[in-house]
Amino acid sequence: ESLPDILCRMPKAELHIHIEGSLEPELIFALATRNNIPLPYPTVDDLRAAYAFTDLQSFLDIYYAGAGVLQTEDDFFAMAWAYLKRAKAENVRHAEIFFDPQTHTERGIPFATVINGLDRAVRRGREELGVSAALILCFLRHLSEEAAFATLEEALPFRDRFIGVGLDSSERGNPPEKFARVFARCRELGLRLVAHAGEEGPAGYIYHALDLLKVERIDHGVRCLEDPLLVARLAEQRIPLTVCPLSNVKLCVFPDLAAHTIGRLLAAGIAATINSDDPAYFGGYLNENYLATFAALPDLGAYEAYRLARNSFQASFVDESVKAGWI
Ligand code: ADE
Ligand code: ZN
Repeated sequence: ESLPDILCRMPKAELHIHIEGSLEPELIFALATRNNIPLPYPTVDDLRAAYAFTDLQSFLDIYYAGAGVLQTEDDFFAMAWAYLKRAKAENVRHAEIFFDPQTHTERGIPFATVINGLDRAVRRGREELGVSAALILCFLRHLSEEAAFATLEEALPFRDRFIGVGLDSSERGNPPEKFARVFARCRELGLRLVAHAGEEGPAGYIYHALDLLKVERIDHGVRCLEDPLLVARLAEQRIPLTVCPLSNVKLCVFPDLAAHTIGRLLAAGIAATINSDDPAYFGGYLNENYLATFAALPDLGAYEAYRLARNSFQASFVDESVKAGWI
């Protein structure tokens, strides 16, 4: 079997996918028409042509604008259902899916509309596709601690519909400590904890995510390699990193995939995983991330493929008994 076949066919988990980042330009146009929302781009191709990013913020601006077409529960369902069908086709057995409620509640969309639509897709995915999926609520770090606490309050009536919380959006200037008290409260509530750290921000933010927020996984985390002591700690404590290679190139964290350090992370003994982040914006879903990364890095072979897939299941938040059946 060829390496590309192995990468596509092997069972895997996806642990870093923003559901709003799976909103394809075609669906943006369809929802804009259905909901009577004017778009600043005349055609799908014009919109896609605007996906030329120079850094995280230049992406976020267009990503939040795209999410503005989502209005009804059915819209949120349609977005998540499209992702889950794609996940199924790519042999993703389990997905832990981020959603950004504040992107919608700030526009006047009720929290219930968002989570009811997403939850309906997650349940149907389990039943009809056999894809296990769970939701992780992300706080937008460019907004205030107070706004995060208010979002948590709104979410609590739906506590059984999401498994944990994360932290995303503009990293630089919005360090983990801004959300230490919110995360402490989430921890008391028994929620699983993750945070984006060390994507654009410094390695110090990874320490703070671990020590102040007490997260169990780091999203991205690629800048840990600037600090050998941190690399040793991540490896020793088996703290998983959810790495997103195509995202890193599109957001200019690395100049190209040949410069990506996923091979170094694995070689250092870190439980790294491969993920798609925002596949509709970054040029590929999960298998495309695996294929392009392995094509660009000749040191990666079948052994690394197996390790990455195994890491993805081990780093997931499913029950240990379920995990044992997968690994
Ligand atoms: N929201 C969606 N994608 C993100 C990323 N790569 N970093 C931070 N926030 C995000
Ligand atoms: Zn992300």
